[in-house]
Amino acid sequence: MSAESAGNVLELRKVTKRFTLPDGREFEAIRNVDLVVPDLPGRGEFRVFLGPSGCGKSTILNIVAGLFRPTSGEALLRGQPILCPGPDRGMVFQSYSSYPWLTVLENVAFGMQLRGVARDEREAVARAWIEKVGLKGQEKKYPKQLSGGMRQRVAIARTLAVKPQIILMDEPFGALDVQTRLGMQNLINELWEEIEGTILFVTHDIPEAVYLADKIHILSAGPGAIVDEIEVDLPLHRTEDLKQSARFRDLETIVLNRIRKEARGGSVRITT
Ligand SMILES: Nc1ncnc2c1ncn2[C@@H]1O[C@H](COP(=O)(O)OP(=O)(O)OP(=O)(O)O)[C@@H](O)[C@H]1O
Ligand SMILES: [Mg+2]
Repeated sequence: MSAESAGNVLELRKVTKRFTLPDGREFEAIRNVDLVVPDLPGRGEFRVFLGPSGCGKSTILNIVAGLFRPTSGEALLRGQPILCPGPDRGMVFQSYSSYPWLTVLENVAFGMQLRGVARDEREAVARAWIEKVGLKGQEKKYPKQLSGGMRQRVAIARTLAVKPQIILMDEPFGALDVQTRLGMQNLINELWEEIEGTILFVTHDIPEAVYLADKIHILSAGPGAIVDEIEVDLPLHRTEDLKQSARFRDLETIVLNRIRKEARGGSVRITT
């Protein structure tokens, strides 16, 4: 590990990703993305990505997950190149990502099963997580018997049960109604305080970004790059009443203005 990387959980250094289109042209999805998440004692950081559709937010998460390799630049996890997916990173997608043929209990225990955790232990841990996400009593149901919000709770419990260092959440609440969404924001806030992991979270919702983030990364379109970082200087422990505070509203306005400014400066981006 280089001296530069010491003490960082995650680093993206000038990460560019190009895809080859069916007609042979190259399409640059993200360019020179730099991101450093330091290792803070006793807690992770909550980073939120905001940017227009197609600007490369999912691409960044997929690179951290190890599902895509950068075309150039480096993606490092604790100083080591990210080459493939691993149990140190967990992903919650926008669409419900539970296994339909497994019960709630089996879904939440699945990651531990893959890691060879004995049945009794994995079921005990899974039951504890099911309770934490408010699904006690639903253990034997199958995903199709649950509402959308409940299925997202299963996905969150399953991801957190294996204690990943990095939790990747790609618009996890995008398909939920407003009330369920607000409940899920509070749930993830509470769980994050106890898991000590770093969360990379994508959303299109500004209040959600301000409510959850330590830091908001604003991305530009064409090709995606991080154009601004906004520190959210709200208390670490967040509750709904904060949303009425002057500082919360200020931060919403700052983020909105930054996004508007970015939206005025888009460009076309097919490279040959
Ligand atoms: N496998 C692929 N092959 C070709 N192009 C791709 C591939 N994956 C993504 N892209 C393109 O890269 C760009 C960034 O995609 P990405 O999914 O990262 O955007 P996003 O910011 O997550 O958008 P949204 O907010 O709509 O989810 C898009 O133009 C997309 O079409
Ligand atoms: Mg996306």
